[in-house]
Amino acid sequence: MPSILWHIEKELEVESTNDLVLERARSGEPEGLVICARTQTKGRGRRGRTWYSPPEQGLYFSSLLRPPTKAEEIPLISLIVGIAAADGLMKCGACSVGLKWPNDLRINRKKVGGILCEFENFEGPSPAVVAGVGINLHSPPDKYPESFRSEATSLESEGCKNIDADSALNLILEQLELWYQSFLEQKFVPIKNRWEELCDHIGQEIQVSSADGAVPGKAVGLNDKGCLILKMPDGRLREFDSGEVSVR
Ligand code: BTN
Repeated sequence: MPSILWHIEKELEVESTNDLVLERARSGEPEGLVICARTQTKGRGRRGRTWYSPPEQGLYFSSLLRPPTKAEEIPLISLIVGIAAADGLMKCGACSVGLKWPNDLRINRKKVGGILCEFENFEGPSPAVVAGVGINLHSPPDKYPESFRSEATSLESEGCKNIDADSALNLILEQLELWYQSFLEQKFVPIKNRWEELCDHIGQEIQVSSADGAVPGKAVGLNDKGCLILKMPDGRLREFDSGEVSVR
């Protein structure tokens, strides 16, 4: 299988790199486009949240993939991007980076980054996945908006100094290409294994908040669709395809 040819465009200031890549995907842009910005004025997070993207303090980029896979496998891409981001950062010299389901990047159980995957033409002949990655490299936690100050941190604040945005971008893209190829050739098993290794809450007591409330239990692992398996206090298993995890 051919590997991805990354085509990287660097911008000073944009509203949201995800929006720009989505727009280009709609106009037929091939796989491999990456737009990276020094700052975003309307950075978007999961669940309609804002992604704080101050200049020179973080890495903000979106990449375009066009996986030749079945529609039901496409959501797995976001787990692949999480692995690539965690492994890329660690190859760049960052201390131990863990994952919280579905794809928060964490150090010492605090969030240093996140992934927002958006899909275009999901069921069509050439679906597009826009994988947005935001990483807090340097910003001190007291600068974050108050609503997520208590749970957010940056690599530098956790002791991972000297990580520069360009090297981090290159190493994450290198890892993304590797794990994406692995997925196309070997499907989900290697991804599931690596994701579970990186996860910082498997076997622990957590709570999953979803549309029908908060459910406590023990995190067991992923099923073959990337859903989180929770063992509830009565011993029954429940699988979540979306939700917010808090570790108890
Ligand atoms: C999350 O909520 O954890 C996901 C955050 C994703 C932020 C990144 S920054 C680059 C890209 N552009 C955006 O507007 N969002 C993503």
